[in-house]
Amino acid sequence: MDKQFKRTTVTAALPYANGPVHIGHMAGVYIPADIYVRYLRLKKEEVLFIGGSDEHGVPITIRAKKEGVTPQDVVDKFHSIIKKSFIDFGISYDFYGRTTSKTHHDTASEFFRQLYDKGEFIEQVSEQYYDEKAETFLADRYITGECPHCHAEGAYGDQCEKCGTSLSPTDLIHPKSTISGAEPVMKETKHWYLPLDQHEAWLKQWILNDHKEWRPNVYGQCKSWLDMGLHPRAVSRDLNWGIPVPVEGAEGKVLYVWFDAPIGYISNTKELLPNDWEKWWKNEDTRLLHFIGKDNIVFHCIVFPAMLKAEGSYILPDNVPSNEFLNLEGDKISTSRNWAVWLHEYLEDFPGKQDVLRYVLTANAPETKDNDFTWKDFQARNNNELVAVYGNFVNRALVLTDKYFNGKVPSCGELTDHDKEIIESFREVKVRLEDLLNHFKFREAQKEAMNLARIGNKYLADTEPWKLAKTDMERVGTILNISLQLVANLAIAFEPFLPQSSNKLRDMLSIEAYDWNDLGRSNLLTPGHQLNKSELLFDKIEDEAIQAQLDRLERIKLENEELNYKANPIKSDVSFDEFVKMDLRVGTVLECTKVPKADKLLQFKIEDGLETRTIVSGIAKFYKPEELVGKQVCFIANLPPRKLKGIVSEGMILSAENSDGSLSLVSPISEVKPGSQIG
Ligand code: MF3
Ligand code: ZN
Repeated sequence: MDKQFKRTTVTAALPYANGPVHIGHMAGVYIPADIYVRYLRLKKEEVLFIGGSDEHGVPITIRAKKEGVTPQDVVDKFHSIIKKSFIDFGISYDFYGRTTSKTHHDTASEFFRQLYDKGEFIEQVSEQYYDEKAETFLADRYITGECPHCHAEGAYGDQCEKCGTSLSPTDLIHPKSTISGAEPVMKETKHWYLPLDQHEAWLKQWILNDHKEWRPNVYGQCKSWLDMGLHPRAVSRDLNWGIPVPVEGAEGKVLYVWFDAPIGYISNTKELLPNDWEKWWKNEDTRLLHFIGKDNIVFHCIVFPAMLKAEGSYILPDNVPSNEFLNLEGDKISTSRNWAVWLHEYLEDFPGKQDVLRYVLTANAPETKDNDFTWKDFQARNNNELVAVYGNFVNRALVLTDKYFNGKVPSCGELTDHDKEIIESFREVKVRLEDLLNHFKFREAQKEAMNLARIGNKYLADTEPWKLAKTDMERVGTILNISLQLVANLAIAFEPFLPQSSNKLRDMLSIEAYDWNDLGRSNLLTPGHQLNKSELLFDKIEDEAIQAQLDRLERIKLENEELNYKANPIKSDVSFDEFVKMDLRVGTVLECTKVPKADKLLQFKIEDGLETRTIVSGIAKFYKPEELVGKQVCFIANLPPRKLKGIVSEGMILSAENSDGSLSLVSPISEVKPGSQIG
C-alpha cells in the first residue's frame, strides 16, 4: 500500500445462480467485502462495490435438466433469491448485476474478440467425448461410469463422489452419457486456449516480487501454481448454455464460464455507469480489489490478470483478499447435501437478526485457516457479547441519562485521570481499527470495537454513577457525558460490521450522520442535546431456538444417510438343496425377560407348535421385553443348541439390520399357527 490511489474498485465473487447463498459464502466473501467498502465510504473515499450472479456453466444446465426447466428459469429464480439475501443482510453493492444481461454478453464477447484479433489465443484440436445419439459433445459432468479406483458406479467425468478422487472422463470404466444413456465416442473438437505459459514470467515478477504483502494463503497458492509451471487453458467449451464464441467456425461453442464470469465485474460496472465506467478499470489511480473464497484464487490471481494484461488497457488487482472455508458443526458445508445455513431460511427463523449473523461470521471469519460455525457459539456470542457487553453498556448509559437528566446529554465537569484514560482509549481504538481494516484483518478489527464496549461497561461498573446521584450530580453528569461519547464512538466503530445496529443506535442518539474521522472524539454529543427513546440493541437467544436449529441439522444428517444408504452386496449363491435343509418357523412369544449382566440379550420362551423352547437373542437394545410378549417371531428351528451366558439357546430369532445398525424383528404380516414353516 505504498502507492497512493484516488479511488477503489471493490469486487466480490459472483455467486453461481444455481442455488441460494449460505453462511460460508457470507463469511468468506460478502461480509468482508462489505465491511471494507463501508469503511471506505465512512472515510469519504471514492469507492465502487460491484457484484452480480454468475449465470453460466454446466451445473446450471444440470440443475435445469433435473427439474425439467430451462437454464434461464434456474438463473432467474436464484438470481432473485440471492439478490434479496444480499439486500437483507446489508451487503451494500453499488450494483448487483447478472451475466445473462445483454451488456455482459456484449462485453465478454468483445473482450474475447479483442484477444482473438491480437493473436493472444492458440487454437488446438483435441479429442473429446461425444454423444452420437444426442449429437452433442459432453461436459465432464455429463459422463458417468465406474470409478477406476473404488469401482463405485455413477462416478462423474471429473470426480468420483464416493471416494473423492478427481478424474478425467477417459478414466471412467464403461462411460455413459447422462443425456441419452449412449456410450460416448471420441471426436475431434477445436478450442481456443489462453497460453498462460507465455504469461508466466511477468506473473512471477508481479506476484512473487511485487505483491509479497498478499495474504499468506493467497501468496502461497499462487507460488505453488507458478512453481509448477503454467499451461495453456481452454477458454471455450462445447455447450449450448453461455456466450457464443464470436468467431467463424465456432458453432455450438460457448465461452468457458471462468472466462466470462470475471468480465462480469467490468460489464456490471458498465451497466451502472455507461459513460463513466472506464475510470474504475483503466485508470492507474484506481485500486482494484477482488474479495473471493480460496477456490477462486487461481482464477483471480493468475487467469483473469493474464486476460486483462493480454487485452492491454486494464489495471490489475492490487490485492485479492481471499478467505479459507467455513465449516458447519464440524462438517464441510455442502449445497448438494443441504449441509448449510441458508440466508433466507436464517431470516425466517431469526427475523431482524441479520447483524447477529454478521457479527458471528466475522468473529469466526476463516481469514487464515478453515473455521467452524456452531449454533452454540452463535448463541454464546449473541448472549455474552452483543447482549451482555455492547447492548448492555449502551442501554445502561441511555437509561441512566434518561433517569437523571431526562434524556438530555449532561455537561462534562472536571476530568479525573481515570476519565482521561477512558477518553484516550477511544483515540487508540481509531488508530488500531484503521491499521487492522487497512490490512483486511476484520476479525481482529471487530474485536477492537467490542473491546471499546467492554471499556465502557467497566467504566460504569468502576465509577458507579447511580451511587453518586444523591451526593454529586455534577460528577454523575461527567461520567454519563463520557459514557455517551463512548456510545457514539461505538456507533461509528461498529458501522462497517453491524450497520443495522449502528443505524438504530444513531436514531436513539438522535444524530444525523457521522464520519469515520469523528471516531476518537469525545465531543460528539453536545451538552443539552436531546436523545431519543432508547430500546434494546440486541436480545437474548434462548436455548429452544438453538435446539431447533440443531434438530434441523440432525434431520438433514439422517436424510443424507438415507440417501447414501446402499444395501450390502448379495452373497454368493447357495444351492436349493442347502436352502431347504434350513428349518425356518414362526413361533409365539410366551415370555421374554432380560438376561442378567448382559445388556444386549433377551431370553425368550417360544411356543413352536410342538413344545416351548428357549431362545436367547441379542436385541435388548431395541425392544423392551414386555412389549414382545404375545408377538410372533421367526426363528431357525434346527440350529444346534448353544450356551449363552449360561442359558441354552435352542435356535435363532430372525431380525433385520437397519442402515444405522439397529435391529428390527421379522414377523409374519398376519397371525399364523405357531410352528408354521417358512419357505
Ligand atoms: N461463481 C464462482 C464461484 O462461486 C465465482 C466466480 S467469480 C468471477 O466459485 F470472478 F468469476 F466472477
Ligand atoms: Zn471412486
